Amino acid sequence: MRLDRFISKHTPHSHQASRLMIARGLVRVNGKVEQDPRADIDRFMAVTLGEVLLQQQTAHYLMLHKPAGYLSATSDPVHPTVMELLPASLRPLLHIGGRLDRSSSGLLILTNDGLWSRRLTEPGKKIAKTYRVTTARPITPETRHRFVEGIYFTPEHITTSPAQLEQLDDYSARLTIYEGRYHQVKRMFHAVGNHVTALHRESMGEIRLDDTLELAASRPLTKAEVASVDG
Ligand code: URA
Repeated sequence: MRLDRFISKHTPHSHQASRLMIARGLVRVNGKVEQDPRADIDRFMAVTLGEVLLQQQTAHYLMLHKPAGYLSATSDPVHPTVMELLPASLRPLLHIGGRLDRSSSGLLILTNDGLWSRRLTEPGKKIAKTYRVTTARPITPETRHRFVEGIYFTPEHITTSPAQLEQLDDYSARLTIYEGRYHQVKRMFHAVGNHVTALHRESMGEIRLDDTLELAASRPLTKAEVASVDG
């Protein structure tokens, strides 16, 4: 939103009065005087008029090394949730950008930036998600072809986008998919007569689970990781 509109929206001042105050140097954006009424203000900029703080919300982006056994939810009466593993001050602010099942482990991303997390998870964006998968039965050569063709999910009436399967040994593989449907990986293996016994997310787009991050630990995303999810 333009700065002059922002000031008139967040104060009792008219549009014209707002422009005047901006021109007089009374408005600061992120601590610096801003005299351009057309300056673009987003929801994570600190804006002050004189001594009055009109908006200050810091954007938070975290990666968590999720252990199996934790629910991807903000609260639950029965199971421990991933929120319990995060700094207490951030818990009320954050939401999850792409859930993992309770039994799954690996990269989980949390943020308070809803537009950003929507870009990360929107099926239309086709962001690659890579998983290490362990199965109950040997992975057949046919599996790779079936996953490239796409698996039809009856309830949603969709065929999954071509997925890449890199076989690691008889019972494990690395799978890259481009949507995040409910239980997608488990359902894809189920469709070829197999069963997933362990599932670990390694990456989402350019964001890879940090090897140095211990199980249950989290860290802020770097600027480059945040910027890799572009509009
Ligand atoms: N697909 C699944 O089946 N489970 C997950 O946790 C993630 C992807």
